[in-house]
Amino acid sequence: MADLQVSIVLSLAPRTAFDTLVAELQTALARLGLSFEAGPKGRITEGPQAVGSVTAWTRGKGLSLEWHPAPWASGKSTAIDLKLRAVKGGTRATLTHRGWGAAVGGKAELAGWFAGEVAAPLLRATAPNALGDWITDRRARRPAGAEARKTYGDPIFHYPNFHVILEELALRPEDFLLEVACGGGALLQRALESGCRAAAIDYSADMVQLAQETNRDAVAAGRLEVREADAAALPFADATFTCAAMTGVLGFLPDPVRVLAEIRRVLKSGGRLVALGADPELKGTPAAPEPIASRLRFYDSAALETLGRQAGFAEVRVIRRDLEPYAREAGVPAYALALFAGGKGGGARFLLARKG
Ligand SMILES: C[S@@+](CC[C@H](N)C(=O)[O-])C[C@H]1O[C@@H](n2cnc3c(N)ncnc32)[C@H](O)[C@@H]1O
Repeated sequence: MADLQVSIVLSLAPRTAFDTLVAELQTALARLGLSFEAGPKGRITEGPQAVGSVTAWTRGKGLSLEWHPAPWASGKSTAIDLKLRAVKGGTRATLTHRGWGAAVGGKAELAGWFAGEVAAPLLRATAPNALGDWITDRRARRPAGAEARKTYGDPIFHYPNFHVILEELALRPEDFLLEVACGGGALLQRALESGCRAAAIDYSADMVQLAQETNRDAVAAGRLEVREADAAALPFADATFTCAAMTGVLGFLPDPVRVLAEIRRVLKSGGRLVALGADPELKGTPAAPEPIASRLRFYDSAALETLGRQAGFAEVRVIRRDLEPYAREAGVPAYALALFAGGKGGGARFLLARKG
């Protein structure tokens, strides 16, 4: 039996480190199919299976778990500690799984398990591809964590896009709007000022929660519903909405036609869509920097229009807008204004489509 240990120094005070690690673990475990009920009487479950039970819990100091043996193994429980210790520059967080290994098999098996299940994933996570994917997800493709919540709670650089989308949608109180990939719900907040009803989806649990908080009153009043879902499989019946919006997501979609066809499916006949494009001119600029840029797909006007047609929309056109005036109006800092300037015949692309 061995002790398995991993440790890192975080530049956070111990209490903040504890709260942050608990929240991040909850999100990360949920993605892996495990549920972590936090607190002194908390537990970790995987489907119906109890995996671990909290035996100690002190904010700022750490927590311990009794780790139950696998149901087929006759072994004893093992113990996991997450210990936090104030050090120069922050807090050392150390996760130890004590007494681990007997269930794995013989000594060589433990070496295989450690290499394959611990060391290799750790090395891969710190190699460029996986790190680039993580950064892309964390900041934009599937935002999560405190920094993303701050950014998407008030996405000032997106307000110029929102301006055009709202102008083109020209919402009325009788509209029922769908927003696909709503992030923190800032566009919804503005859209709801029209008096319309709305529903939205995003596949980041953090963003769904933030969008609900941002629009608490509308949710309580039954004017808005925000669900965790994939844009490629919208959880709504055919012909539900009068209009739809999508912004800041097209370039991340592996199958954009499928998503646009889903939007078309849930629109009523005559329903309209306004979607921000993914402009090739932005590649490598601060609007689409590496490592995000090389993980995005970009579309020129013809390609963007083709996506709308392939999805089955009856009327499709692409407009280009100079966003600089809206950026000024939104208070975008002067150093960034050039990013929004349309230039000669240019400007940000928006896909306008209507269901027949
Ligand atoms: C760059 S953010 C834009 C958020 C928001 N629309 C805005 O403009 O502030 C991209 C969002 O799309 C979501 N997203 C990306 N792919 C998605 C998918 N396939 N299904 C649902 N949401 C998706 C992400 O979780 C994230 O919230």
